[in-house]
Amino acid sequence: MIDTKEIIKDFPILDREIGGHKLVYLDNAATSQKPRAVIDAISHYYEHYNANVHRGIHTMSEEATAAYEEVREKIAAFIGADNTCEIIYTRNTTEAINLVAYSWGRQNVLPGDEIVLTPMEHHSNLVPWQQLAAEREAKLVFLELTEDGQVNMESARSLIGPKTRLVALTAMSNVLGTIVPVREIADIAHAAGAVVLVDGAQSVPHLPTSVKEMGCDFLAFSFHKMLGPTGTGILWGKKELLEAMPPFMFGGDMISSVAREKSRFNELPWKFEAGTPNIADVIASGAAIDYLSKLGMENVRRHEVEITRYALEKLGSLKDIVIYGPKDAEKRGGVIAFNIDGLHPHDLGQILSDSGIAIRAGHHCCQPLMKDLKVMGTARASFYIYNTTAEVDLLAAALEEADKVLGHVAVR
Ligand SMILES: Cc1ncc(COP(=O)(O)O)c(C=O)c1O
Repeated sequence: MIDTKEIIKDFPILDREIGGHKLVYLDNAATSQKPRAVIDAISHYYEHYNANVHRGIHTMSEEATAAYEEVREKIAAFIGADNTCEIIYTRNTTEAINLVAYSWGRQNVLPGDEIVLTPMEHHSNLVPWQQLAAEREAKLVFLELTEDGQVNMESARSLIGPKTRLVALTAMSNVLGTIVPVREIADIAHAAGAVVLVDGAQSVPHLPTSVKEMGCDFLAFSFHKMLGPTGTGILWGKKELLEAMPPFMFGGDMISSVAREKSRFNELPWKFEAGTPNIADVIASGAAIDYLSKLGMENVRRHEVEITRYALEKLGSLKDIVIYGPKDAEKRGGVIAFNIDGLHPHDLGQILSDSGIAIRAGHHCCQPLMKDLKVMGTARASFYIYNTTAEVDLLAAALEEADKVLGHVAVR
């Protein structure tokens, strides 16, 4: 198991006090905190070898290029990819999905084709497909969910078929916490001749990841949710698919030669990386991978199962609380969305903030799911490697305090 006491020491921000209370940071599904090693990697780059990559032959440019490219190897190993040419740097998950929607989508999706999604997709894995479908006269098809927020596999078997061109699905819901059986769905999709894109924004930071075991064709994720800085994300794609795709953006770095009238494009992965990249943050993302790899993703997962199990029980004992998603901690990630009858989630978030507890309240960029759940929004607590069961106790106590202030919550 991981040692949270030791881990906390690596995160300077966790010393912070809010309104006289020690910070309890439970908004990790939005973005995680950063360890000293990641913060230092950024300043180390700017203080010692700040230079543009790929272009210079001077020492610092070579050092920057080596550090920038070395991170690709770390990422490939982290997600079980065979080849660094399949690792494309993007700004975030959203950009990675848009890249596929523009480049692969506009080349492959035809009128009458179907794009299959789950009803719990983040807007980032919904809106790009809505746009593509509208442009191509394709249709969006939604799988069904069970009562406790798991994918109804019967619906996957019946809705994925010969018209399906793409199945785009989250591996872990940022609201329900649901862990989706990606492999099973990918097998159904491939048997129907469809391509599978996985939104790994929530799963890659929290679960061991192997693109081979997942059986997907594309995987998108963001580093800021996994200890890294904002502004860096990854698109992984199968080499043969990426090779057949046109570039998404055009300009410097993505070309191999340019004449006045015509250009030849660079090889993978640089074909998809136009312009000066986010060098410092990519290098710091490598430090984030080092940190997580040292802990071991199996251990990260075990820690989160324990804390989630504890939180489901503790919060579940509060009166008038509704917790969304699977009841079994093994079937979900460390994301707990909830509502307390009669309390607006924003009021709840504000009261908790007064006690130094940071949670999220709102629609979590999942408005269609909110509609299905028949709520305007939810409160959401989400955990990571530095969270403890003691913090869950503080959360539960603060919710009881909200009862006193707002007159609704009581322990059963
Ligand atoms: C499941 C899921 N997909 C996609 C995203 C979008 O990530 P980003 O804003 O880093 O592009 C998020 C962010 O919350 C998410 O939770």
